Amino acid sequence: MPPATPQLGLINTIQSIVGVDIDCFASYPVVDGQGTNGGYCGLAVKPIAPNMLKNCAQHPGVRLPISGIGGIENWRDAVEHILLGASSVQICTAAMQFGFGIIRELLSGLEEYMVEKNFHTIYDSVGKALPNVRHWEDLNMKYQVKAHIHEGKYIGCQLCYTACEDGAHQAIRLQPGSRVPAIIEDNCVGCNICSLVCPVENCITVDRRDDGTQHQTWKERTAAGTIPTEFNDERAGGRHHWVPAPAALGKERHKTLPGTAWALGPL
Ligand SMILES: Cc1cc2nc3c(=O)[nH]c(=O)nc-3n(C[C@H](O)[C@H](O)[C@H](O)COP(=O)(O)O)c2cc1C
Ligand code: SF4
Ligand code: SF4
Repeated sequence: MPPATPQLGLINTIQSIVGVDIDCFASYPVVDGQGTNGGYCGLAVKPIAPNMLKNCAQHPGVRLPISGIGGIENWRDAVEHILLGASSVQICTAAMQFGFGIIRELLSGLEEYMVEKNFHTIYDSVGKALPNVRHWEDLNMKYQVKAHIHEGKYIGCQLCYTACEDGAHQAIRLQPGSRVPAIIEDNCVGCNICSLVCPVENCITVDRRDDGTQHQTWKERTAAGTIPTEFNDERAGGRHHWVPAPAALGKERHKTLPGTAWALGPL
């Protein structure tokens, strides 16, 4: 590419306040009694930058090469940016933190990856993941995964029980006389929260259960008019949970009670 070719570079830092001095009542860093916002960057923005990059790379109006920036520390981070549409990458925070030496590791890792995947130039991989990063409405709802607790590994902390009971789908029950919880398969939606809170590696896996023969997306269900209007789950609060129509979402806040819908008014 000729050096003068215009490019889009993203992301820059994200405005942030990392803390407030609770004695002098100003945001950090305090400058003569007052503060201002800072710029979030490095590892903290790693999940944010690739999403913004993907949005730009998929946008039909963006016709410039994109340079991926934000949270890149190693070759794998660089590859992820490239697969999401970056034809070059830039590093700021990691170079400040670890020094320019990280570029050597990054280059050798990148080269090894390209050889393994049979990519001859970087352009063989630019944007390769973009067709597979879709809106949630396009994902296959027939893809079914369920949590599985591997009994030999557990330490009986029951963090998974609390997470699922209070924060997910009430799909884990405690068993009298045992510290090993059990999955209630009918309730498990495969959200993965239990495995994220479990302190033991691979103690909970979330495994595929469907046979791969069926495919239906939320978009297809919407078009077919088969979106459920009630959610009948005895354990999750009783039958006849009311599900708001998509048009109402975001306009009103609803509280669902068995058999009753309460509109709490505009936010
Ligand atoms: C100390 C510091 C100074 C920066 N100065 C600039 C700047 O002058 N102009 C600019 O466009 N971006 C600036 N940035 C943003 C970086 O170029 C980069 O977009 C951002 O930090 C995200 O990349 P990173 O996660 O690799 O740090 C700065 C970032 C840091 C941490
Ligand atoms: S969080 Fe993990 S270790 Fe703790 S009880 Fe659940 S499965 Fe066992
Ligand atoms: S995957 Fe989700 S719903 Fe299933 S047991 Fe774990 S936390 Fe509960």
